[in-house]
Amino acid sequence: MTYQSFYSRFLKANEGKQHYACHSHYYWPDVTRDAVLDYWDDSATYADEKWGFFFQTLVPELQRHIARTLNTSHPEQIVFASNTHELLYRILSCFDLSAPLKVVTTDAEFHSFHRQIHRLNEQANIELISVPTEPFDSFSARFEQAIVDNAPHLVFFSQVFFNSGYYVQDIERIVATVTNPERLVVIDGYHSFMAKPVDLSRLESRVFYLAGGYKYAQGGEGVCFAHVPKGCSLRPSYTGWFAELGALDKPRAGEVQYSQDGMRFAGATMDFTALYRLRAVFNLFEENDLTVEAINAHVEALQQTFLQKLDALKHPLLHRSALMIDNEATRGHFLTFKLPNAEVTASLAAQLREQGILTDYRGDRLRFGFALYHCKDEINLSALNDCTG
Ligand SMILES: Cc1ncc(COP(=O)(O)O)c(C=O)c1O
Repeated sequence: MTYQSFYSRFLKANEGKQHYACHSHYYWPDVTRDAVLDYWDDSATYADEKWGFFFQTLVPELQRHIARTLNTSHPEQIVFASNTHELLYRILSCFDLSAPLKVVTTDAEFHSFHRQIHRLNEQANIELISVPTEPFDSFSARFEQAIVDNAPHLVFFSQVFFNSGYYVQDIERIVATVTNPERLVVIDGYHSFMAKPVDLSRLESRVFYLAGGYKYAQGGEGVCFAHVPKGCSLRPSYTGWFAELGALDKPRAGEVQYSQDGMRFAGATMDFTALYRLRAVFNLFEENDLTVEAINAHVEALQQTFLQKLDALKHPLLHRSALMIDNEATRGHFLTFKLPNAEVTASLAAQLREQGILTDYRGDRLRFGFALYHCKDEINLSALNDCTG
């Protein structure tokens, strides 16, 4: 089956290009354009009443879609923000940042966390334990051991690492090693949400899960979310007026009140256009019975075809032995090739771009992502022969 008709506008606007940067920024389905106009129309219709309208219609619908995708039974635990950094900082603000704080994380977290935690780490009270993701085969065991050895206040890790594509399968085992219920676990799911099937059913009262619309969820920038553990009574000090919508905690003298559900981690006024776009994508997929399992199968088949075509080329830089993750079962939706150095990588990516092959790179790693709008027959790597870095 081809899904290209969903993306006719982006595909037409980029005719002749092979877009392998979808793991960074997915093309938007056509329905998202109508969604932007719907947002405008609803804003005009409801004017001053629009927030009530959004919170009664849009927000619960989107929460339902996301909860179903994560297989959680508590849609009301989903809270939105414009980016994951805001939600992350709100979680961090639950700690007394002047008291001792131990954090176990990895050496492969995206900048939103990496930069922020390293900035905080400039304070003497923070102890940061950063577990190398490589070698990948032993990552989970080493990460679990670091948690057991250090009993951290916060555990933060990605389900798929952005700089390799390694997919952590055993998240439940990792989370189980955090035995003290007071300690926080945050999973960065940006590269797994809507790409790999995710099942938080047994973790929904235990973990924060962060993701957003810019990548595989295809709603574009401006719509990120956190699943907040059911029963969470934390009181983020970085808080805005959205956090007191709905039923509130019992009032306590001298204390600010919070919503009882995920909204306790909300901020303040934001542009909901992106939420309209994301809802339109979910509705499109629902109407077409398109599940994450089917998306994943489509992408795995594309990766296999791409690698077979690459085998035939015998390219000096791009070949299976340069692949960071060879095992499909532990790989996200992009292939990462480790090249001799950052200069060669940048130069190869630029040469590919000139040939209409769009990729992206991080240091010495070149990434090729695969999407619903790709089709096996259209993978054409012959131009690679002219690109040697
Ligand atoms: C693993 C991961 N987390 C988060 C993000 C986005 O972070 P933010 O929403 O803070 O911009 C990205 C974006 O590329 C990412 O790769």
